[in-house]
Amino acid sequence: MSDQPPVCDYEGSDYRTRFWENQGREYEDLTERVAINRLMAPTGKTLIDLGAGFGRLADEYDGYDRVVLFDYSRSLLREAQERLGDDPRFVYVAGDWYRMPFVAGLFDTMVQVRTIHHAADVPSLFSQLSRIGRPGGEYILEFANKRNLKAILRWLARRQSWSPFDPEPIEFVELNFDFHPKWMAQELERAGFAPVQILTTSHFRLGVLKRSVPVNLLVNLDSIFQYTGRWFQLTPSVFVRSINPSSGKKANPGTFFACPDCGNPIGLVDRGLLRCHTCQLGWRVENGLYDFKEPVEISSES
Ligand SMILES: C[S@@+](CC[C@H](N)C(=O)[O-])C[C@H]1O[C@@H](n2cnc3c(N)ncnc32)[C@H](O)[C@@H]1O
Repeated sequence: MSDQPPVCDYEGSDYRTRFWENQGREYEDLTERVAINRLMAPTGKTLIDLGAGFGRLADEYDGYDRVVLFDYSRSLLREAQERLGDDPRFVYVAGDWYRMPFVAGLFDTMVQVRTIHHAADVPSLFSQLSRIGRPGGEYILEFANKRNLKAILRWLARRQSWSPFDPEPIEFVELNFDFHPKWMAQELERAGFAPVQILTTSHFRLGVLKRSVPVNLLVNLDSIFQYTGRWFQLTPSVFVRSINPSSGKKANPGTFFACPDCGNPIGLVDRGLLRCHTCQLGWRVENGLYDFKEPVEISSES
């Protein structure tokens, strides 16, 4: 497993209180919700939120029968569990998105917001997603846009060394990447996804505007401007809706988890573990959290 791409580890992080709660980001939060609701099918059977964190966006998924909140951080998933209570629609899964523990063709809808900037290996991530998405289903991706207006102005004024027009991702801080929209579209297509709709968000992410204009007005204006993403993308945040690859097949009814090593479906929880008898590995299930971060070795007779 040592050749796995590195992970930006949020275990024990105070992300919710440090970044969102009373931090003046109501505008960003609301505009993201507008975009998700415009792009996402309102109902479906299975949805996965990739890098769900503390479940900030979970209340947008009311129309889905089963919602997987997937994240590398157990502690953030525990916060999500506390916030969302006992709603049986939610399934909390800890794991690494480069080793997805689900059967092929499972998810009608996949949503990924504010997380792909931590992906050092986007092609590997997309190859996992192209496997677990239901053929013809959808993938709603938000990414940080390197070719945004502020970056262009800074580059023109020689206050920024990297070019916003260079298609390659820029790692501005370790494991934090901004992406060029064309590069992202190309990688999606390479993995078999078909990008069909683009919205831009956070047109007015300026301290002075956020302080002086009522948030609802700013969100309404942003909602109108979001549609300009179809023609050009100059905002720091871009949403793309893609159709999942049509190759592959739908998951067999009744199957859900799969061994992240061999890909075989794994079934019922047995003595607190989900077990893969092919690889002789098990994964803990504790207080409603399916934990695929580290396997437990099992012997054939245990
Ligand atoms: C900035 S937070 C965003 C959380 C949430 N999507 C939101 O918008 O509130 C990024 C999340 O990505 C998760 N993450 C980063 N790398 C991951 C990986 N390799 N596998 C699964 N989750 C990952 C982190 O644990 C963290 O919760």
